[in-house]
Amino acid sequence: MRALVFGSMNLDYVYEVEHFVRPGETLAARSRSVKPGGKGLNQSVALARAGAETSHAGCVGRGGEQLPALLKENGVDTSDVVPVPEIQGHTVIQVNRDGENSILLFSGSNTCVTEEQADRTLSRFGRGDWLLLQNEINLLPLITEKAAARGMTVALNPSPYDSRLDQVDFGLLSWLLVNEIEAEQITGSDDPDTVWERLHARHPRLSLLLTLGGRGSIVWRTDGARTEKVTQAAFRVPVVDTTAAGDTFTGYFIAGLMEGLPLKDCMARASRAAAISVSRPGAADSIPWRAELDGQ
Ligand code: RIB
Repeated sequence: MRALVFGSMNLDYVYEVEHFVRPGETLAARSRSVKPGGKGLNQSVALARAGAETSHAGCVGRGGEQLPALLKENGVDTSDVVPVPEIQGHTVIQVNRDGENSILLFSGSNTCVTEEQADRTLSRFGRGDWLLLQNEINLLPLITEKAAARGMTVALNPSPYDSRLDQVDFGLLSWLLVNEIEAEQITGSDDPDTVWERLHARHPRLSLLLTLGGRGSIVWRTDGARTEKVTQAAFRVPVVDTTAAGDTFTGYFIAGLMEGLPLKDCMARASRAAAISVSRPGAADSIPWRAELDGQ
């Protein structure tokens, strides 16, 4: 059983600021660093550090060569990362004194995926394997259809949420992993139980993970007939930088499911990993190794 992340890699240009820059304002940053990130890369790293056999597929652009190298160092198979002439996808991230972030994303190389690349990559995977997607690459509807047709278990973290996701057939997904804002964008409700009821009515076989920041997380796992619900409180830690906390949760949660852990253990472990991530700066850099959790 293997995990395939077909997703983005970004260079994160991170600026520490007193507050997020306001319209018309010029603000001096306290520090600046360039770090590995991208929701796809972060989730691949989280899966691998959680112990899952992980492959990453996507495109590397000009200036981004260090990103697949970092994935490899983490034990991720990068045979399906393709070089393209476009500039590397990147972000400008402001981190304020409360550890909150504000992210400006330029897709660049991440939206150069071709149908031929998707076919070649997916031909190596099948029933029993998992596909984890985010919304930072192109061709999501096609990749979802082809992976589901091959019998893969498809999980979508529809982040950042935008209208391109309307083209994805949610009926082909096994898992949807969202935060409260994305949940409201999809269902029109900010009440967790209503979110679940609306989604379940539309897609009866779709399981849902809903993260609620400091208020914890809730999961509903269903086979269409029977649904199991687990609620998990957030671990309280001093917040340094929330970037990639959701990616850490997602990677650890899916790794737990792949291992066959009870749902409550998947939630507890993912929540502990996300708490460690917010106590450290950076995106991929902040994701803990499994031994750090087991040692606690
Ligand atoms: O989820 C965090 C990530 O979102 C950052 O690493 C940044 O690259 C953006 O994709």
